[in-house]
Amino acid sequence: MLIDKIKEIKAEIEALKAQSAEDAEALRIKYLSRKGLVTSLFDDFKAVPAEMKKELGQKLNELKNLAQDKIAELKASANSSSQSQQNDIDVTRQATNVPMGSRHPISIVKDEIIDIFARMGFTVAEGPEVEDDWHVFTALNFPPEHPARDMQDTFFINTNPDILLRTHTSSVQVRVMEKRQPPIRSVFPGRVFRNEAISARAHCIFHQVEGLYIAKDVSFADLKQALTFFAKEMFGSNVQVRLRPSYFPFTEPSAEMDVSCTLCGGKGCAVCKGSGWLEILGCGMVDPNVLKNNNIDPNVYSGFAFGMGVERIAMLRFGVDDIRLFFENDVRFLRQFQSAD
Ligand code: PHE
Repeated sequence: MLIDKIKEIKAEIEALKAQSAEDAEALRIKYLSRKGLVTSLFDDFKAVPAEMKKELGQKLNELKNLAQDKIAELKASANSSSQSQQNDIDVTRQATNVPMGSRHPISIVKDEIIDIFARMGFTVAEGPEVEDDWHVFTALNFPPEHPARDMQDTFFINTNPDILLRTHTSSVQVRVMEKRQPPIRSVFPGRVFRNEAISARAHCIFHQVEGLYIAKDVSFADLKQALTFFAKEMFGSNVQVRLRPSYFPFTEPSAEMDVSCTLCGGKGCAVCKGSGWLEILGCGMVDPNVLKNNNIDPNVYSGFAFGMGVERIAMLRFGVDDIRLFFENDVRFLRQFQSAD
């Protein structure tokens, strides 16, 4: 009976739900399209006896209006809820954790070295990494046959053996002296290059900080005082220092400075090979020949110079036992130095 079908579909329509606008459209097709359930009732209506046409016609029209209103309502609410999802900002949600970058341990230690000497009045200068023989060797009093000129130690440029990658930052001493008369009191940080096999202790690229102080009446006592101050600032006031006689072509007298082992405190361990001491730098009084080579009068001025490996100091400071770690850029290694600044 048509009247029963109308009731049945009316109940169905009243209970309709739609999650999305697509669901609502599917319902429109199901009930209201040309072959839809409501529309097809109008076909059945043709067979209804005349005396019932008025009542059933009214009911059918009500059903159609109900279906249209209901589906339009479902569409509207599906649209607005998907819009409100897009606009919702959950202010209580935890912020994404953007990882902070960290400074490279070599940069940290290099800046600390510079900072300590800055407190003693040293300024900072830099020079080129690609150098010539004069600035790296000849002006620094290296005799022509000195083994450091050998291909074993130095990277020369193939086409021009006068051009090379600097093997030490002492070349910047020359660059500064040729431009300026004393007083000179500066440190020179930078990269240096040596033709060496890479191992846990040595690398073909590393960093140095050079220092140069030239003025009237600069003595070896000044050198010792400045470098002792540096060692105590860098490694703590309990650290012991000692100077051992050494040789560099550009300083006379020359020395190497050791600090008491930062690991065992001087008792002797594997890191200091049982000696209780660790070498941290080379130094000496600037050789008069070097002053002359740079037009500084050695009868008026004297000075001291020193050079230290930044990797070596960083290894001692942070207890790193393999120099190669500084060059591999493994974030698991680098992250550990985040808080050191
Ligand atoms: N240039 C030397 C080196 O690379 C270090 C040094 C610098 C020594 C200045 C004395 C004076 O080993």
